[in-house]
Amino acid sequence: MTIAHEGRLLFGGDYNPEQWPEEVWADDARLMKEAGVTSVTVGVFAWARIEPRPGAREFGWLDRLLDLLHAHGIGVVLATPTASPPPWLGRLHPETLPRDEDGRTVWWGSRQQFAHSSAVYRRHAAAITEDLAVRYGRHPALRMWHINNEYCTFDYGDEAARAFRDWLRAKYDTLDALNAAWGTAFWSQHVETWEDVIPPRRAQYLRNPAQLLDFRRFTSDALMECYVAERDLVRRHSPAHIPVTTNFMPLWVGQDAWAWAAQEDVVSVDVYPDPRDPLGGQYNAMIADMTRSQARGPWMLMEQAAGPVNWRGVNHPKPAGLNRLWSLQAVARGADAVCYFQWRQSRQGAEKFHSGMLGHAGEEGRSFAEVKRIGAELAQLSSEVTGTQVPSQIAVLHDWHSWWAGTQDGRPSTRVVYEDVVRAWHRALWEAHLTADFAHPEHDLSAYEVVVVPQLYLLTDAAVENLVAYVRGGGTLVCGFFTGTADADDRVRPGGMDARLRELFGIRTVHEWWPLEDRETVDCGEFAGTLWSEELTAAPGVEVVAAYRGGDLDGLPAVLRRGRAWYLSTLPEPPALRSLLANVAAGADVRPPLSGLPAGVEAVRRGGLLFLLHHGRGDVTVTLPDGTAYRDVLSGAAHTGSVTLGRFGVAVLAREARGHGAA
Ligand code: GLA
Repeated sequence: MTIAHEGRLLFGGDYNPEQWPEEVWADDARLMKEAGVTSVTVGVFAWARIEPRPGAREFGWLDRLLDLLHAHGIGVVLATPTASPPPWLGRLHPETLPRDEDGRTVWWGSRQQFAHSSAVYRRHAAAITEDLAVRYGRHPALRMWHINNEYCTFDYGDEAARAFRDWLRAKYDTLDALNAAWGTAFWSQHVETWEDVIPPRRAQYLRNPAQLLDFRRFTSDALMECYVAERDLVRRHSPAHIPVTTNFMPLWVGQDAWAWAAQEDVVSVDVYPDPRDPLGGQYNAMIADMTRSQARGPWMLMEQAAGPVNWRGVNHPKPAGLNRLWSLQAVARGADAVCYFQWRQSRQGAEKFHSGMLGHAGEEGRSFAEVKRIGAELAQLSSEVTGTQVPSQIAVLHDWHSWWAGTQDGRPSTRVVYEDVVRAWHRALWEAHLTADFAHPEHDLSAYEVVVVPQLYLLTDAAVENLVAYVRGGGTLVCGFFTGTADADDRVRPGGMDARLRELFGIRTVHEWWPLEDRETVDCGEFAGTLWSEELTAAPGVEVVAAYRGGDLDGLPAVLRRGRAWYLSTLPEPPALRSLLANVAAGADVRPPLSGLPAGVEAVRRGGLLFLLHHGRGDVTVTLPDGTAYRDVLSGAAHTGSVTLGRFGVAVLAREARGHGAA
C-alpha cells in the first residue's frame, strides 16, 4: 500500500491538540500549511479525553479537529489511543495493570500501563478502537491508521502466566516436549503440571535460558495479538486503501519486527540518534536499512526530533542543518514519510523539554525555519522518489530470536552487546560507502551478491541450510564470531558450532571461546581484534587469511576462508573490518555508487537519483564520473566533474537529460 498521498511524501508529526485550548488549533493549522505539513498523527494518548468515564464517548472535539485539518488540506494519521489507558481503568480493573518480575504493579501516572494479556484491557481497547473506526473510518482527512504506540510492555502477572501456558501448549503440545526443549533435567527444573509453568519471575540465581527465550517469544506474540485485533477492527470500517501501521522503536529487543512487519501495511519507526554522536548518521542509516528491508520498499519515519529529546542524561539540540541532513538521508534510504514527535512542543507534562517542530521559540525559532525548508524540499522531491526502491547487493542478517538467546546471563562474556556488534558491521559497510539491506537468516538471499552475519548465536536448521545453499549457489558469505552455536531451543550444537557451518568455513574444531576484556585487543598481524577470540583449528587446505600472533592463541586462525565463505573469529577494529568488507565486496563485483568518495560523505541511489549526504562540518568536494552532467534536483544547480558540499550539505543529483539512464 502506498504511503505517499497524491504523490507527495508525507511530512508532519504527532499532534496532541488535547493539550491546548482550541484557539491554538487554528494557529496550528495555519503554521502547518506554512511548513508544508501534509499530515499529522492524532490521538496517540487521547484515551482519557475521549473516554473520561467508563463507556463515555467525547468525540465532539475530535470531529472539530479533523474537520479543521481537512479544511486546511492536512491529512490525519489517526491513532488508537490504547497505549495509555486512563487511570479509571486501572482503579476499577487492577488486573489491567502489568506486573514486573518481582510481582510489583506498574501503576498509572506515566503511560503504557497495560497488561497485554488482560481480557478486560483487550475488551476496553477493542471498544474504543471500534468506535473510533466507525466514526472516522471514512472521514476524508483520514490517511492512515496508527495502532497503539511503540508496543514495549512486559507482564509477569497471573493473567500473563495463563496466556504464556496457552502459548506453550500450542507450541509444544505436551509437557514432555516442553521439558525436553527447556532442558529441565538441569537443576531440578522438571515441570510436572502446567501450573508449574510460570513466567521467568525473580529467582535465586540464573534462570532457565530456554524459558527466558520462550517468554520473549511469547511477549512479542502477545503484544502482536493486541495489534492485530485493533488492526482488524479499523480495517473493517475503513476503505481498503487506508493503510495500518504501528511505530517500532529502532532495533529494539522486545519485538520480533520481522514477524510484526508482515502484519503491517506500512512499516514505521521512531529514530532518535544523539546529535553529538559522530556516528549518528550511520545509526540513522542502519535503522533506515532495517526498516526498509522489513517493509520491502518504502517505509515511514514516524518520529524523529527537530531538536533535543528529554530522556538522555544531557540532551543536545541539533545544530543548524542537521535536522535537514538526517531528514533527507531518510528519504535517500527509502522513506516516503518524514515525521516528528511532535508538532508543537508541550508546555506541561514529562516531555515539556522535548523539542517539537514548533518549539517554545515559536514561529520565529531557528528550528522552525529549518522545518519549513525541509517541508518545501520534500515537496520538491516527491515526484522523483515516492514509491521508488533503494538498490542493494549486500544483506546483513539479523534475527531477534538469536539476539534473545545470545544475550542471557551465564554466557562466555557480558561484554558482547549484540546490537553493538550489528552496528559495528553496518558501520564498516557504511564507511565503505556500500548500501546494505537487512534480511532474516531464513529469507531467500539469492538476490544478494554478499551476505554478512555480524553474529547469529542461534540458528535454526532451516537457517543453516539456507546459508549453505546460498554459498553453494554462488553467494559470498562473511560471518562473525560465535555464530551457529545454538539450535532453535538454545541447545548448544555438538562441537560448539553447527557441523554444516564448520564444514562450510573449513573449521575443524572449535576448542574454546576466548572472550576479551574491555579495551583488550588481540594481535592478528595486519589488524587488532576486539571483544572476542576463538581457539579454532582449520581443516586441511583452508586458507588462513589472518592468524593470532602471540598470546594463548598464537598461530591459530583469526580469519579463515573456504572459497566464498569467510569466518571471523574476532571483531576486527573498525578500519580493518571496513577494508575487509570492502575487499570482499569488490571481489564479488560490488562497489560504492561513486569511486573515491571522501570519508563522511554518504552516497546512496534511490530511484533515478544519486543522494550525496555530507555528515561533516567543513567543505568537501566529491568527484563525479567524467563526462556526465548532473542537475541538483533541490537547488537546480548544474554539476560536471565535481560537486562541493558544505557543512551538513546535501546534493540530490539527477543526470541531465542528454545523459543515459539513472544517475
Ligand atoms: C517515543 C514516543 C513518543 C515520545 C518520544 C520522545 O518515540 O512514541 O510519544 O515520547 O518517544 O522521544
